[in-house]
Amino acid sequence: MGRRAFLGLLGGAAAGAALAGCGPASGSTGEQIASARPLPPPYRVPLPVPPVARPVAPDRYLITQRVAELEILPGVRTPVLGYDGIFPGPTVETRRGRPVVVRHRNELPVPTVVHLHGGHTAPEHDGWPLDLVLPVGDTSDRSGHHGMAGDVVAGERDHRYEGDQRAATLWYHDHRMDFTGPAVHHGLAGFHLVRDDEEDALPLPRGDRELPLMLCDRSFTADGAFDYPSLDRSLRTVPGVEAHAMEGVLGDVVLVNGAPWPVHDVDAARYRLRVLNASGARRYRLVCTVAGGPDLPVTQIGSDGGLLAAPVEHAAVELAPGERLDLVVDFGVLPVGTEVTVRNALGSGTTSDVLRFRVVRAARDDTAVPPVLSVVEPLVVPVDATRRTFTFARGPVGGHRGWTINGRPFEPDVPQARTPLGEVEVWRFVTDVHHPVHVHLDPFQVLHRGTGGPGPFDGGWKDTVDVRPAEVVDVAVRFTDHRGRYVLHCHNLEHEDMAMMATVHTV
Ligand code: C2O
Ligand code: CU
Ligand code: CU
Repeated sequence: MGRRAFLGLLGGAAAGAALAGCGPASGSTGEQIASARPLPPPYRVPLPVPPVARPVAPDRYLITQRVAELEILPGVRTPVLGYDGIFPGPTVETRRGRPVVVRHRNELPVPTVVHLHGGHTAPEHDGWPLDLVLPVGDTSDRSGHHGMAGDVVAGERDHRYEGDQRAATLWYHDHRMDFTGPAVHHGLAGFHLVRDDEEDALPLPRGDRELPLMLCDRSFTADGAFDYPSLDRSLRTVPGVEAHAMEGVLGDVVLVNGAPWPVHDVDAARYRLRVLNASGARRYRLVCTVAGGPDLPVTQIGSDGGLLAAPVEHAAVELAPGERLDLVVDFGVLPVGTEVTVRNALGSGTTSDVLRFRVVRAARDDTAVPPVLSVVEPLVVPVDATRRTFTFARGPVGGHRGWTINGRPFEPDVPQARTPLGEVEVWRFVTDVHHPVHVHLDPFQVLHRGTGGPGPFDGGWKDTVDVRPAEVVDVAVRFTDHRGRYVLHCHNLEHEDMAMMATVHTV
């Protein structure tokens, strides 16, 4: 399919979009769009696992962003914007202490920006929202959006990732100013796993028993396209979504690694599940249900920034957009033949289904979850630490309705914080509705939720924290190594695109 044809398909997408309100019970801020075509029954499509990217030279990767048509619903063609033409993109696997260069080539009909979420990355490689890569051969307008200039190039950009960080589940995704929501929605997201010797030395499940799971929700138009209510279907000039969806775009199909409610055959053994919520606005509460028996508990071993100090057992786990949870589930406690259905307790109807595992064979298992996983040094807050408050709320953006931080829309050239490298500061996040708050460059540690301590899913190093309606969350931040400009933003992608982002200078 040609590059222009893709935009033609988006142009037709608006017709007939039906809406279903999403009450507070869903736990998500947003409006659900009903698919305009029949949906398949759940748990029929096999779980895909994204291929691991192969280096083109030692420590060098090339990813080509292109339009493709994929069979997501059985028998239906869906146009996507894909890293290497697939969705999710190829998984990039790197090792701590070993720098790599990922060259991104843009063969799409729209400009792009690539950000490595959770990466400890120099500013010029981080995916500043105005550092556009124009499509190959596009010599048109290099002035950037709204006259705000970034480092605009045509065709390709090399991103250098130092690898100077703990083993962790990272992900890469589009981060273009004003258009991150539709770009990610149409497919621009992939895993990036950092591994290290410390983690490799643990007896955790690996190989086929280690699964990255990218969760996201989508709706489909009558002709099979992803239904995203962009105001500007060319994804080039006018930012934002139709008024009904400004709180967030929610789909009625749950995709795991790009497949609708897939099913996966497993050994009766422990599995490591690296769960990423790559949805634009949907939150999940995942429960491993077993027909006729008690739910299967899950053991959390890591979060956004890698391993926890010690494992934590949960009956259910919650993830907001942008968050990752590293889990171990033990199918070995179940008889062969058992089905384990992962359900979303915050969903209703089709969005309460997620994924099914079928325990199909007995198998030897010499893995374990050790009682000590890693060392997580607590950030120590000095008595005279700098304290900053960031209030995430609805607000006017250039005369329109939008989303603001401290009453201000994103101003690339006006930092809301100048933070010295190496200093621990306390940042307070305050909300009106749900806002998953994400900070670039370095992970943080959650100190308090309201008057209490960290919540059950706040442990370890975090780079995204789910701040619930009218909540106050304090985190300890500390930036290291890289001086420059970064962003802090809401990871509800519609909020982000409608200006809920702030510039942070590390100095
Ligand atoms: Cu996952 Cu600033 O992004
Ligand atoms: Cu990020
Ligand atoms: Cu938000």
